Amino acid sequence: MTTDAIASAQRANEKSVWWRAVLGEYPTGVCLVASRGDDDEPIGMVVGSFVAVSEEPPLIGFFAGRDSRTLPELVSSGRFSASVLSDDDETFCRAFASKAPDRWDRRPFVDTPNGAPRLADAVAWFDASIESTRTYGDHTFVVGRVHDFGAGAGGAEMPLLFRRAGYGSFSAPGETYDARAFIERLRWASMAEREIESLSAELGVEVAVNTQLGDSVVTLASVAPDSTLSTFDNVGAAHPWAAPISPVFAAWAPTARRHAWEEASRHLTGSVDRALIEDQLRGVRERGYAIAGDQALTDRFLRLVRGNRTDRVAYARVWAEIAASRRRLEDDHGVHWGEVAVVQVPIFDEGGDVVLSIYAIGWQHSMSQRTSELLVERMRTAADRISTRIAASRTRG
Ligand SMILES: Cc1cc2nc3c(=O)[nH]c(=O)nc-3n(C[C@H](O)[C@H](O)[C@H](O)COP(=O)(O)O)c2cc1C
Repeated sequence: MTTDAIASAQRANEKSVWWRAVLGEYPTGVCLVASRGDDDEPIGMVVGSFVAVSEEPPLIGFFAGRDSRTLPELVSSGRFSASVLSDDDETFCRAFASKAPDRWDRRPFVDTPNGAPRLADAVAWFDASIESTRTYGDHTFVVGRVHDFGAGAGGAEMPLLFRRAGYGSFSAPGETYDARAFIERLRWASMAEREIESLSAELGVEVAVNTQLGDSVVTLASVAPDSTLSTFDNVGAAHPWAAPISPVFAAWAPTARRHAWEEASRHLTGSVDRALIEDQLRGVRERGYAIAGDQALTDRFLRLVRGNRTDRVAYARVWAEIAASRRRLEDDHGVHWGEVAVVQVPIFDEGGDVVLSIYAIGWQHSMSQRTSELLVERMRTAADRISTRIAASRTRG
């Protein structure tokens, strides 16, 4: 090679490195596209270039490099499946991209009706027959017409992300919050301690104070009925703020914050029942407080939250059951107090923001409607007193 040729090769290489580095800033999901070759053996490759092309007719596509050995076989098979990888699939993805000999044995595959293997537990999958191929520069765009598609694993799995040659995932809601704001809320919660002690004694149930910060709900104080001391089991317990849990923090919130609450639920459970949530929030605003039902479910929820680990699948399951149990709580005739296990009352700041809530856990099924409503009134009066105290402390501060 001449010196000029070497210099030119170096420049081309640097340009390619820079091209890839800049493109690497754009994050993508990761899909496994697969089919079967002439000998019926599975063939496939990992792509970041998967794209939805059209809804009507349903078309999907991806770009395959000119050097890909999978591409000609896949095109000649006339079909392909696309399986969206989950954030648990990083090792599998690396094995697949590096053509590990056991790559087809590392995960369960099932055949699509079209006869292409797809991941049995993909986050989402598509089954397509090839509609067209067209080459642009060093890549071929393969477009497939979708015959079947679905989402796996209950939609609770998060997709694998790829950026700057590294893998990542969406973070689950409920993991971080602002420390300065947290300390301020803690100070306000301490102003509520006497109130929750007497409420707990009067109601005969556990009464706690919690707050919503960012995408978390955190318990700040808690008193059990047979003691005047805070029970610290609950204090510090945090869980994602996701619909339909802790609706008092959403009912009076600006639209953007309410949407964040709904989106957190979609993030956790894969879906969100908008109509049910709108109904729930309307009820909370009209009554001025929130209710939740099913003591056994509430207990499971609290165990999960106190367990102090972010298990998305477990959260997703409990969240979905809580949404379902809401339907039994009230109808056009009002609240079915026999079903109520938790009552949550908002504490507003002077700007009308809900900054804390008082909630009573273990609402007694034997209580009559009249008694229940009286006790809720007691909670609301206490909440108003705490609001006044917070406002006064802010004026002083
Ligand atoms: C995250 C990720 C995304 C990729 N995206 C693409 C892509 O969109 N198109 C492509 O041709 N190769 C892509 N590749 C590279 C192929 O997966 C890899 O080169 C593959 O083994 C193709 O080679 P083969 O067809 O010769 O087996 C990607 C690799 C990784 C790890």
